[in-house]
Amino acid sequence: MHPAIAIDGPAASGKSTVAKLIADRLGYTFINTGAMYRAVTWYMLEQGIDPADTAAVLEALSSVPLSFGKDGSRSVVLCGERVLGEELTRPQVNDHVSTIAAIPEVRSLLVERQREYNRREPVVMEGRDIGTVVFPDTPFKYFVTASEEVRASRRAAEGLTDSIAERDRKDSSRATAPLAQAPDALLVDTSDMTIDQVVRFITDNIQQ
Ligand code: ADP
Ligand code: CDP
Repeated sequence: MHPAIAIDGPAASGKSTVAKLIADRLGYTFINTGAMYRAVTWYMLEQGIDPADTAAVLEALSSVPLSFGKDGSRSVVLCGERVLGEELTRPQVNDHVSTIAAIPEVRSLLVERQREYNRREPVVMEGRDIGTVVFPDTPFKYFVTASEEVRASRRAAEGLTDSIAERDRKDSSRATAPLAQAPDALLVDTSDMTIDQVVRFITDNIQQ
């Protein structure tokens, strides 16, 4: 099994953008784990389940009709036959995803699916706990960040409504797998770096 490339960091730090480009360069599969937490959140909201009602979420969890597949070289989430897309970045999903992601049973279900991807093929995986929990033994760990102002302006430039500071606060303070830099992860502050510089910095480090 090839060691996974683990990329973690706060909201809008550039994780998906650089993870996708690094995966393309290396010929690996790009896995966006945030989309998996977002999909569970979207599904609960669709069912009219209150994300704060943990008992109701747990009851629905056992029959969630989501599956985690691939489209070419990137991960996708399907609900039945339908590939989920814009649903996952809706403001309501942004507002509730950190609550759903704090539930340990949700995490263990998704972490198992994430490890399955890497059993089949080499992956570049991005999220919040990839270096700390999902692949603690990989030697390739990067914690990608940027100042809060830079991250907020990057997200605003996408035209998306997103309370990133609030999500970061919740993600960092939860009991299970909080957002944190693994002790052996390399910190990459991208505030003053272009996307291309970040991609080159990480791929050079991997190939050293
Ligand atoms: P994350 O996955 O961490 O939430 P994204 O990859 O979605 O972050 O990036 C958020 C936005 O910031 C995107 O519009 C992306 O193009 C832009 N972006 C990412 N990295 C940089 C960078 N180093 N410089 C400028 N813009 C960036
Ligand atoms: O793209 P952005 O960084 O804004 O968010 P995301 O990666 O799509 O993740 C959405 C949310 O899912 C995060 O705010 C976390 O609550 C949760 N998440 C998580 O808990 N663990 C992961 N490995 C990935 C995401």
